Amino acid sequence: MSFSKLIIKLRLPSKLKGIFFVLRLDRLVPIHLFNLIAHMAQLSKWISVHKKTCDNDFYNPIFNYKNRESLYKRVVADHNLDSNIDYLEFGVSAGISFRWWVDQIKDSDARFYGFDTFTGLPEDWGRFKKGDMGNNNKPPVISDDSRHQFYQGLFQQTLLPFLSEYKTDKRKVIHMDADIYSATLYVLTLMSPFIKKGDIILFDEFNVPLHEFKAFNEWTKSFYINYKVLYGVNNFYQTAILIQ
Ligand SMILES: C[S@@+](CC[C@H](N)C(=O)[O-])C[C@H]1O[C@@H](n2cnc3c(N)ncnc32)[C@H](O)[C@@H]1O
Repeated sequence: MSFSKLIIKLRLPSKLKGIFFVLRLDRLVPIHLFNLIAHMAQLSKWISVHKKTCDNDFYNPIFNYKNRESLYKRVVADHNLDSNIDYLEFGVSAGISFRWWVDQIKDSDARFYGFDTFTGLPEDWGRFKKGDMGNNNKPPVISDDSRHQFYQGLFQQTLLPFLSEYKTDKRKVIHMDADIYSATLYVLTLMSPFIKKGDIILFDEFNVPLHEFKAFNEWTKSFYINYKVLYGVNNFYQTAILIQ
């Protein structure tokens, strides 16, 4: 009998688990640290695989937030996005990225949907506190374009009602910029039945191990999502993926 079979026969994993629970060994484990290290390792592995097959700047020691605009421009040009797309942005705040997309996509049939509390983050996120990144409790004003609409409130309150009315077979660009794990996973999960081959998902903070990356990783595994990474800038901080 092999060693692994013997361990299973003696029910060692289950006995060890019992000892762990009874002695409350969780008190000795730095859970957050282990969690962070495990996800950092998964992200590092993910980057090492995908950097070979997509356009990216890894490893770039200088972070420049403006690089995300060059990523957007590449996506629009290479994938003919100046057409009748639906653009959905989750995390709009003052509307800097939202406005960029409304300005660039000229097609009159394109539609732009923005979701946000506009009162800021619903939870702490790293050095940012709950309520940071708000926009004075109101959506930004984009007065010169009637193709857009904003949905104010938690995604957890606004997205289901929106989707119950949302009927489209248009190509979609989904921009995930909520930063936090819970919001990202919630949106990707609810959007899953609507996401089709050819849709593009942009992430604004992809390489944060316990937030957008963790949510993306769990979502792709749980929903058997096939995807191709198109571009990454700022060491995959901003990342564009194509659904296949
Ligand atoms: C980084 S800001 C968005 C920045 C914007 N996309 C830009 O580049 O100009 C993140 C936003 O996500 C929003 N957000 C995070 N979690 C949310 C949730 N569960 N429901 C609604 N809004 C959320 C916050 O209110 C915040 O305004």
